[in-house]
Amino acid sequence: MNLQGKVALVTGAGRRVGQAIALALAEHGASLAVHYRTSRAGAEETAARIIEQRGRAQIFSAELESVEQIERMVASVNEAFGRLDVLVNSASVFYRKPLEGLTERDWDLNLNTNLKAPFFLSKFAGAGMRKQGAGKIVNIGDWAAIRPYNNYLPYTVSKAGLIGLTRALAKALAPEVQVNCVALGPVMPPDEYAPEQVERLRLATLTKTMGSPADVARAVLFLCEGTDFATGSTLMLDGGRLLN
Ligand SMILES: NC(=O)c1ccc[n+]([C@@H]2O[C@H](COP(=O)([O-])OP(=O)(O)OC[C@H]3O[C@@H](n4cnc5c(N)ncnc54)[C@H](OP(=O)(O)O)[C@@H]3O)[C@@H](O)[C@H]2O)c1
Repeated sequence: MNLQGKVALVTGAGRRVGQAIALALAEHGASLAVHYRTSRAGAEETAARIIEQRGRAQIFSAELESVEQIERMVASVNEAFGRLDVLVNSASVFYRKPLEGLTERDWDLNLNTNLKAPFFLSKFAGAGMRKQGAGKIVNIGDWAAIRPYNNYLPYTVSKAGLIGLTRALAKALAPEVQVNCVALGPVMPPDEYAPEQVERLRLATLTKTMGSPADVARAVLFLCEGTDFATGSTLMLDGGRLLN
């Protein structure tokens, strides 16, 4: 799919990885629907940077635990831009909690944000894409979906579900829409990580490198622009972390 003149919605695009993906899609000609929940200033910055480069962008806020807000946001994007061609599900919650402390709320928060929201976003956005005759959905996953991290149980289950969702949606939205997943290794450590913790992440890869948000953006661009033949696939973008 040529991104020129297309419209992309990126969730969690007010900061970090989501912001890098949004900027890269805009650089390749897409108009950007920049989703945020609390990072309004970051979302405004993302949009301003795109507009500075003569692109088109608008910010949209939604609490992704609410299906009603998801439906309203997709409708607003269609209203604002007249179409929606690309959806990148990047927003996610991620926090450590040992099994004994896990509550029903932890389970719901992780599964709602990381799995249920991508499903409903894809359902609502995918319907329009099918009508248009083409579309791309990219889910941002995690290598730990396959080999779970210690003490992140609901998170790793949600990301395992996201790989299943990618495969199921690829069938359900075929042949018009291609749905793929990029399962990340360490590309941007949590802001609070100490240098020693970051170093441990780096050394745990086969490549002995940290990835970067730019690596993620290039993978998303490949799945949107580089080929129309991949669907239902999960690309391990993890420096070989899963194999180590
Ligand atoms: N960073 C890494 O090294 C790494 C490694 C493996 C996988 N990943 C995956 O890559 C993606 C991006 O990672 P990241 O580190 O950039 O994530 P992040 O900094 O944790 O940001 C995630 C975004 O999700 C949004 N969000 C969270 N809960 C939400 C909710 N209930 N409703 C609406 N928005 C919500 C937040 O928006 P607001 O700030 O606007 O509230 C936030 O900006 C995630 O899917 C993550 O699992 C990242």
